[in-house]
Amino acid sequence: MNWIYIEDIADFKDQEVEIRGWLYNKRSSGKARFLLVRDGTGILQGTLFSPERDHPLFKKFDSLTQESSLIVRGRVKEEKRAPGGFEIEIQDIEVLQIAKDYPITPKEHSTPFLMEHRHLWLRSRKQHAILQIRTELIKAIRDFFDGRGFRLMDTPILTPSACEGTTTLFETEYFDQKAYLSQSGQLYNEATAMAFGKVYCFGPTFRAEKSKTRRHLIEFWMVEPEVAFATLNDIIELGEDLVVSIIERILEKNKNELEVLERDTKPLERIKRPFPRITYDDAVQKIKKKDSKMEWGDDFGAPEETLLSEIFDLPVCVTHFPAKIKAFYMQPDPERSELSLGVDMIASEGYGEIIGGGQRIHDMNLLEQKIKEHKLPREAYEWYMDLRKYGSVPHSGFGLGIERTLAWICKTKHIRETIPFPRLLYKIYP
Ligand code: 4AD
Ligand code: MG
Repeated sequence: MNWIYIEDIADFKDQEVEIRGWLYNKRSSGKARFLLVRDGTGILQGTLFSPERDHPLFKKFDSLTQESSLIVRGRVKEEKRAPGGFEIEIQDIEVLQIAKDYPITPKEHSTPFLMEHRHLWLRSRKQHAILQIRTELIKAIRDFFDGRGFRLMDTPILTPSACEGTTTLFETEYFDQKAYLSQSGQLYNEATAMAFGKVYCFGPTFRAEKSKTRRHLIEFWMVEPEVAFATLNDIIELGEDLVVSIIERILEKNKNELEVLERDTKPLERIKRPFPRITYDDAVQKIKKKDSKMEWGDDFGAPEETLLSEIFDLPVCVTHFPAKIKAFYMQPDPERSELSLGVDMIASEGYGEIIGGGQRIHDMNLLEQKIKEHKLPREAYEWYMDLRKYGSVPHSGFGLGIERTLAWICKTKHIRETIPFPRLLYKIYP
């Protein structure tokens, strides 16, 4: 018999097929038996009718427990009332393994319990929907950049130096040297941009961040475009286009998943270019009016980002930050050198910063001075300074955090649900 996936069921109307999966749920009433089988691509109803009380298939059916693995064979029937519009009239059930006492039952469980069982929790409907959107999100991002002629450049994970400040580095041994897990592919991307014009990297990044918030992961995925000759303004427009394009894609392709998540899609449907822009100076003014203790020169914390996102119903781009709260590589504002040409895009609905980026220093002497000011070991950055020695050009880029973006799109309470196996502060199990 033909093994098919549930997502393709509509192509097999009135045919005999085989579904391989796990028991999601079941119920009996008199001469009828109903089961829900899930195969990773969907959930399908199976039906069984017999006047014989001890029909052999009923016996098998009765032995099935939640998450038992099985193969169901039968005929596909259109059935308007069934979830998905199709069901299977069961002719045979083959039991592969009976699952005993599956720990995640339909009742409510505490989040610590579910996190302990993350390897199983992934099978639950909402978790499945979030990660299904994640795969589409990643595809949409790749399509966006590939469609615009960007070259994908994989940057290293083991690195000899810091990109985003030395306080959040994961140190490891590298034979007789020290190495750090990458915080960002940016510095390497600046080199590949000089070789390929416009590039992006897409990979895991690591921050030993001692902050326990709903927005921070220790290991997260970031897509980072870098464009030679681009200015701050160019890169903001690129970021807006990217965000609009991925939201459009998810709204088109993931209607079912958004419905499972009970996500109100109206705020997402509103998202069109251009996004509001505001300078750091103005943002601080607005935030102070909203009863915050923030002073000029402080970085935004989660409460400040939330206050800002309440003012706008689109994502907002904050620019011209004080240089001292930003990374060493940021190009200073030519009019006020204490500011840097950086941008943070703050998502709407209180989801915080999803993009961080800006224009990079392209002057050799200035870069040298900043490396010194930030007390970074010069020898680790010699290659990076070479980019300013040999054909230096203005250039800009940004990083978009996948999990932050997904948390916003899905409106999840906590970022930990947006990656299959989250790495959290002091938590590395499973
Ligand atoms: O603002 P960040 O630190 O910028 C950079 O790393 C730049 N080097 C990127 C570049 O210009 N190429 O990080 C960029 C984005 C943030 O806006 C956020 O979405 C995400 O990465 N991010 C995190 N996501 C989850 N957990 C964390 N701990 C994160 N830190 C940053
Ligand atoms: Mg940032």
